[in-house]
Parts: sequence; structure tokens; C-alpha cells
Amino acid sequence: MKSFASFSLALLAVLVSVSAGKTERAAKATSLRHYMGYTGPSQTGVHFDFLTYDADLNLVGLDNQIRSACQAGLWMVYENIEYNYFEPGNVCIVPALEDCFDLSAACSGMVSSLRYAGSSEGMNDDFYNMYGAINYQGLEFKGNNTSRDVGILQGDVSSVIVSGTGSWTFYTDREFNGASVCVVPDSKYLGSDGTALNYGLFQNLGELGLSDGGIGSLIKGCFSDTVVSAEAVRAKREAAASAGLA
Ligand SMILES: *[C@@H]1O[C@H](CO)[C@@H](O)[C@H](O)[C@H]1NC(C)=O
Ligand SMILES: *[C@@H]1O[C@H](CO)[C@@H](O)[C@H](O)[C@H]1NC(C)=O
Repeated sequence: MKSFASFSLALLAVLVSVSAGKTERAAKATSLRHYMGYTGPSQTGVHFDFLTYDADLNLVGLDNQIRSACQAGLWMVYENIEYNYFEPGNVCIVPALEDCFDLSAACSGMVSSLRYAGSSEGMNDDFYNMYGAINYQGLEFKGNNTSRDVGILQGDVSSVIVSGTGSWTFYTDREFNGASVCVVPDSKYLGSDGTALNYGLFQNLGELGLSDGGIGSLIKGCFSDTVVSAEAVRAKREAAASAGLA
């Protein structure tokens, strides 16, 4: 099992290589969310176009085979089946809009499941995804609107992704009770055609100033005096990762 620190550095490497523009841009951007996985580097070998979640790549004969990709949307690839639900492992998350890239060392040739965050409808619609384990692993509760509880993840939310331009207010208890925090999805990925993905990644609830498991309900919109900027959290995480490298 890999340590949390190695995950963080791997994630950083992936995000940096994408934002540094070392990726090839496909000619045409599209609003269709998909993940085209290739067995070889630089989009070579056999490929398969995933349009939705795949909990077990054995089913398409690609377990531990994907080494490069072209994608649209915010996708996570996991070292183990079922999004690492049974066994924690590496997770690589990349935002892209028809960009192609090689997978980072942490995930190349190791992917056993994959899924996206965000709405199944518009690519940049307002949406939230909550996960039962840190780093977007395990069970999920998701939606596009206010909710009095967090369903199967009640008491168990450990990481969060918000997408689109709208903010969300998370409450520590059901029915909008307890402490609250307004989360602003102000990280941004710009596609080559000028379209944007707005999002916020929170690897654990500590990044929201909450304790693990501490989201019990949510309201669409910003209704708390405590405001957390996803971009500020990302910058702080990257600074901590580089300090660890030095
Ligand atoms: C949420 O999604 C449903 C369909 O899944 C859609 O009908 C509805 O308009 C969406 N709501 C918002 C606020 O986007
Ligand atoms: C979103 O939730 C609010 C409050 O529960 C409700 O009034 C509204 O109709 C919902 N919007 C959609 C598009 O479902």
C-alpha cells in the first residue's frame, strides 16, 4: 500500500504537467465527457473510450493496461477495482478538455477502475460528489441540489469534489444543522477552445476545516460566514508538497 505522501506528490506531478501545457491538444474540443484510455504511451496501442464509470477494467480487458489517455472532464483513475473501496491505493485525478497525456508514474499501467466527478449532463454544471474515503476513493453520494442528508455516506464523508461555478454550503449535521462552511469551486481548467472547467478538490475534510465524516447536509449557494476557496486549498497543498520535496 502506498503512503498518502506519495499520492500527494503524484497528484501534484500530474496537475503540473497538464497545466504546464506539455500535453498535446486534440484538434477539436467537445462538450462530450469521455475518457479514451490507451495501452501504450503517447496514445499508442489498443484504446477504449469510456463514457461513464467503470468499476472493474477486467471487464473490458484493460486491467493494469492504460498508460496514456485523451479525456474531457474531471476523471479519477484508481489502482484497485471499485474505486479502491476494498483496498486503498493510488488515485490520479486530472482535469482536461480534449487533452492527451501520459499517465503519471503513480498510475501508469496500474489502473483498475475509473470514474468522473461532476454532472452527467452539462460538463460544467453545478454539482457535488462526496466520497466515503479520502482522496475520492470508495462509496459516493452526489447531486446537483440542496439535500437534507448525505444518504449512504451519513457520518462517513471523507473527501469532496465540487464542480461548476456555483458555491455550496455544507453543514456538519442533517437538516442544515450544526456548523457550516461555504465552499467555492474556484480552481479552473481552461480548454484550448476557451471553455472552462471550474472545480474544487478536497482530499480530506480537514481541507474544509471539518473533521472526518463531518458533512451531514448541504444547501446550494453560499450561506456561511466561513468561506473556503478551493484554489487557496490547492495552493497550500502544493506548497506543502514542495516543502516536503526540498
Ligand atoms: C439536476 O438534475 C436533474 C436531472 O438529473 C435536472 O432535471 C435538474 O434540472 C437539475 N437541477 C439543477 C439545479 O441543475
Ligand atoms: C432544488 O432544491 C430546492 C430546495 O429543496 C428546490 O426548491 C428546487 O426546486 C430544487 N431545484 C431543482 C431544479 O430541482
